[in-house]
Amino acid sequence: MRIAISGKGGVGKTTLAAGLARLFAENGRRVIAIDADPDANLATALGADRQLAESCTPLAEMDDLIEERTGARPGSGGVFRLNPDVSDVVDRCGIDVDGVTVLRMGTVERGGSGCMCSEGTFLKAFMSHLLLERDEVAILDMEAGIEHLGRGTAESVDTFVVVVEPAGRSLRTAEAVARLAADIGVRDVVAVANRIRDAEDVVYVRRALGDIPLLGMLPESEAVRRADCDSGSPRDRDPAFDEALRDVAAALELRANSPSEED
Ligand SMILES: Nc1ncnc2c1ncn2[C@@H]1O[C@H](COP(=O)(O)OP(=O)(O)OP(=O)(O)O)[C@@H](O)[C@H]1O
Ligand SMILES: [Mg+2]
Repeated sequence: MRIAISGKGGVGKTTLAAGLARLFAENGRRVIAIDADPDANLATALGADRQLAESCTPLAEMDDLIEERTGARPGSGGVFRLNPDVSDVVDRCGIDVDGVTVLRMGTVERGGSGCMCSEGTFLKAFMSHLLLERDEVAILDMEAGIEHLGRGTAESVDTFVVVVEPAGRSLRTAEAVARLAADIGVRDVVAVANRIRDAEDVVYVRRALGDIPLLGMLPESEAVRRADCDSGSPRDRDPAFDEALRDVAAALELRANSPSEED
């Protein structure tokens, strides 16, 4: 199962990604959680302490490894291989946070769009290895820009989740992100509404989402918010939130197993 999670800043992408990763791992699945947001905090949301989280070096910054595999040091502008071997990157660069393997993508400095450089090629090769060649559950915590999901790999994502809040701006972003995802070949785009407080929120979100299927809803939770303040995993703190999360996980599993079926 390959799940990509996106949405406007601060809507709860990392909270959902970490929650799902933890849940699948507890159910005995092997899980790789990819932090593809430059402002990374997925490891922390999974319960890693600061030292462990900081030991997770972004792949884009692994100059020695990138040079070894592509033949060109990042920034050198030299000639590089287009198909670097990345088969050992998960084992080499992933950190284990309570049974979930976490990797960070990092960002490639560039001007304009697209990057013809060794580090960009390395990241692309890794993403395609992750999505096409591995059999773990893969959960990608992405920024709204979905920069790491290129054409070619996008098709391998089973479900692309756009997280929304019951507020206008996040819902408009959802539309744009959903369109972008469909444009690059993602087959299944759904929304998960977060921070739902009451029935009015539900009605508002449903109406505003239009064509985007609503896969599930997570309640506003004081315990989840506080878990972030004392930097721990939000799991096991709020039974209502955990139950809603389990429903989302079950719905994702169903969709991944029957990709052509609509709601
Ligand atoms: N259901 C919820 N109830 C209460 N607080 C929540 C809930 N979901 C997320 N939060 C809180 O909202 C904040 C933002 O959540 P999170 O970091 O998951 O969002 P994000 O979309 O990943 O943000 P960013 O765009 O910065 O990566 C965090 O402090 C988190 O604890
Ligand atoms: Mg985040």
